[in-house]
Amino acid sequence: AAIVEHTFNVGNLTVSRLCEDRVITAVNGQLPGPTIEVNEGDTLVVHVTNESPYNMSIHWHGIFQMLSAWADGPNMVTQCPIRPGNSYTYKFNVTGQEGTLWWHAHVSFLRATVHGALIIRPRGGPKRCPFPQPHHEVPIVLGEWWKANVVDVADEAFLTGGNPNISDAFTINGQPGDSYECSEKHTYMLKVVAGKTYMLRIINSALNNQLFFKVAGHNFTVVAVDASYTKPYKTDVVVIAPGQTVDALMVADAAPGRYYMAARPYISTGPQGPPFDTTTTTGIVKYKSAHGSSPPAMPTMPLFNDTATAHRFFTEITGLLKPGLPTVPLVVDEQMFVTFGLGLAPCEPSQVRCNRTAGSFAGSMNNVSFRFPTTTSLLEAQYKGVSGVYTADFPNNPAALFDFTNLTVNTDPSLQPLRSTVKGTKLKKVKYNATVEMVLQNTAILGTENHPLHLHGFNFFVLAQGFGNFNATAAASSYNLVDPQVRNTVAVPVGGWAVIRFVANNPGVWILHCHLDAHLPFGLATAFEVANGPTAESTLPPPPPDYPTC
Ligand code: C2O
Repeated sequence: AAIVEHTFNVGNLTVSRLCEDRVITAVNGQLPGPTIEVNEGDTLVVHVTNESPYNMSIHWHGIFQMLSAWADGPNMVTQCPIRPGNSYTYKFNVTGQEGTLWWHAHVSFLRATVHGALIIRPRGGPKRCPFPQPHHEVPIVLGEWWKANVVDVADEAFLTGGNPNISDAFTINGQPGDSYECSEKHTYMLKVVAGKTYMLRIINSALNNQLFFKVAGHNFTVVAVDASYTKPYKTDVVVIAPGQTVDALMVADAAPGRYYMAARPYISTGPQGPPFDTTTTTGIVKYKSAHGSSPPAMPTMPLFNDTATAHRFFTEITGLLKPGLPTVPLVVDEQMFVTFGLGLAPCEPSQVRCNRTAGSFAGSMNNVSFRFPTTTSLLEAQYKGVSGVYTADFPNNPAALFDFTNLTVNTDPSLQPLRSTVKGTKLKKVKYNATVEMVLQNTAILGTENHPLHLHGFNFFVLAQGFGNFNATAAASSYNLVDPQVRNTVAVPVGGWAVIRFVANNPGVWILHCHLDAHLPFGLATAFEVANGPTAESTLPPPPPDYPTC
């Protein structure tokens, strides 16, 4: 195993997009930021220097961070931010996972431009991959672009308690593509050789939208999601929620020519759903042998609200059965039923432009809207036993059982108390190595929406998913305990539920949150506090000397 070292200088970068020069925050002057490549078992060391005007922290999305919780990155969860002018070195082992992950800023909306791919290859070389080696591989980082400064967009949403402004474009590898104004030169191009196989390492780094992705005239074979191998799955469309990754093989087997790749949002909401960016980003797949300049063929994209297509993709994929890969734990130690969604809460004094009568959006889990601490990170508080930073009383069940997904029922005034959430920093404490099962139930308190829920520190098995209210008896027969997909981010069906299971084998504090940046600051989150194990090998070591404090 090797030590792989990188230096990230986070600072201002001027780029031209959508007819304007904009100053963005970026790593090493690149958008997307640098691709990191390691072999499984390597140690990754990244020296981050913050030369930007904003607080910074970098999260290594999907990395287990076994016994290295100090390097996980979410602001005020595992660290205080790296202040402008300061540095922090993230150091961790990359063990027990292979495939495509990514890294991104975990503070404000800065992930919009501070992100990049993190590729983990099998140790022992490509022959260890459970699928034939592609001729060539390429990251396809799907993103979202704002003409406005994204920190201003985030601040404005918080101060008003309302939805943030929608983005002005989607992007492929930082390029909006030629369907947008002034963007012909900002169109990502993938050159292919007829007959060869390409591996697309697709990452959804968009802030607030699940996406459909297609390439005209071509099909995909999905071989991994969230850096977990899948049984090869053939499809002509990839559906990907913010935070998720999809490794898809694509054979260049169409008539030599030019073909558009395209991504556009999948969003299915109730009648009061939020406004969203309805544009489409394009890139071009160009055969090297193609002659002439006929316009590229455009794929037929699913409609924005094509829940059937999204649900098919999200549920048909199964995990790969192979010796050495994790299998579903069959005994559950902690059973939780967690409702989540957006509700309303009284405006905070700091929300200066919030309508005091209407209140502010408040995301919640089990009626608790997560409040981030301000003086000490949760992990530091856990490690040092600092009291008053959080309480370990996150409820295992919602405050009341009601019809979670029926909008008509939920306008009943008797349910008004449920529309107002309690704010608090409540963690769920679990024993080392406990197997946790969670039913994640979307509520329709204001309206149903797609929420991609991401768990730090662990992969989980997605045992079952469905629409409407979870019914244990009816759902029991649908649990896949044999070869479920393994993920770090689950796109819980709109107005529905998902059942996940994981083993809490890593001491530290691990946040579970909605990966829509619009919802995280409103508190759609909770966190697990996992105790140390019995031995030195299962005990979190002390923080590194340059660990940022508040
Ligand atoms: Cu990819 Cu907590 O984030």
